[in-house]
Amino acid sequence: MIILAITSQKGGVGKTTVSVNIAYAMARRGWSTLLIDTDPQGSVGLSLSEKARKCQGFYDAVNTGASAVPLVLSTRLPELKIMTAGRTASFFEATRPEVDAAEGLRRVVADVEKKGYDLVIIDTPAGMHGITGDVMKVADYVLIPQQAEPLGMRSIPQVLHAIQTLRAAGGKLEVAGILLTMVQHDQKESADVIRELRGLLPGRLMLDTLIPRDATYMKASAVGVPVALLYAQPPAAAHVFDQLAAELEPRLRLTRNLPQNDDYTRLMD
Ligand SMILES: Nc1ncnc2c1ncn2[C@@H]1O[C@H](COP(=O)(O)OP(=O)(O)OP(=O)(O)O)[C@@H](O)[C@H]1O
Ligand SMILES: [Mg+2]
Repeated sequence: MIILAITSQKGGVGKTTVSVNIAYAMARRGWSTLLIDTDPQGSVGLSLSEKARKCQGFYDAVNTGASAVPLVLSTRLPELKIMTAGRTASFFEATRPEVDAAEGLRRVVADVEKKGYDLVIIDTPAGMHGITGDVMKVADYVLIPQQAEPLGMRSIPQVLHAIQTLRAAGGKLEVAGILLTMVQHDQKESADVIRELRGLLPGRLMLDTLIPRDATYMKASAVGVPVALLYAQPPAAAHVFDQLAAELEPRLRLTRNLPQNDDYTRLMD
């Protein structure tokens, strides 16, 4: 089981949009995938369905010590399961004062590990503190969505520094990649940010896939579906996540006994 955290220093950069749509794309590619929402605002549930909004989820398991397994919800796609954020302890605190959230998270992870998922994707609240820091300690990889605008770039060194600190303390977390979101190909500022980051960041840190600014994503989350399900035929905005899934697979070392690259299938005999 591989755990991928979706994390950013800044809020509103597209973490939840990326989490829902990459989870769907990975499940469509055959990986048994569990999406866990650890944002006390419950954005995954909010963006998916009325029913999911009211279900118990992650914070119920953390706060009560109950098993997380019965809180996993099925979706129309057999390979995709979801655990919503559930109910927090109060309006102000996600967890009860006497509860160790990091320990609760480790218990949830140990519970779901028994179910044999290939991939667990964890959506987190913005920032590196609190539950997000705890998630980074249990995750194998982190995907960092980053808004393609000049102001957003300042948070990248902070995130990379936090990851370095974790690794220096013996943590296993690896960067799956920095993913530029809300890219506006017709805006000079957006193009400048992309060029600048590609020049500044070492090697393969930045992903080739770019998520465009596209109202289709907002529309999909407003009606509560992954963007691929918005219309009878998946729109272009959905295929970007198929590309992202294909790009992430080798980075996450998601492998199984698939035919090797040179075992191609001929179009005709
Ligand atoms: N590529 C995009 N193009 C246009 N709108 C987008 C895009 N990605 C996300 N949005 C919209 O921007 C808003 C913020 O996105 P989202 O909730 O995914 O961000 P977030 O990082 O999870 O925010 P938070 O930090 O509050 O959890 C939402 O209304 C979403 O529909
Ligand atoms: Mg969010």
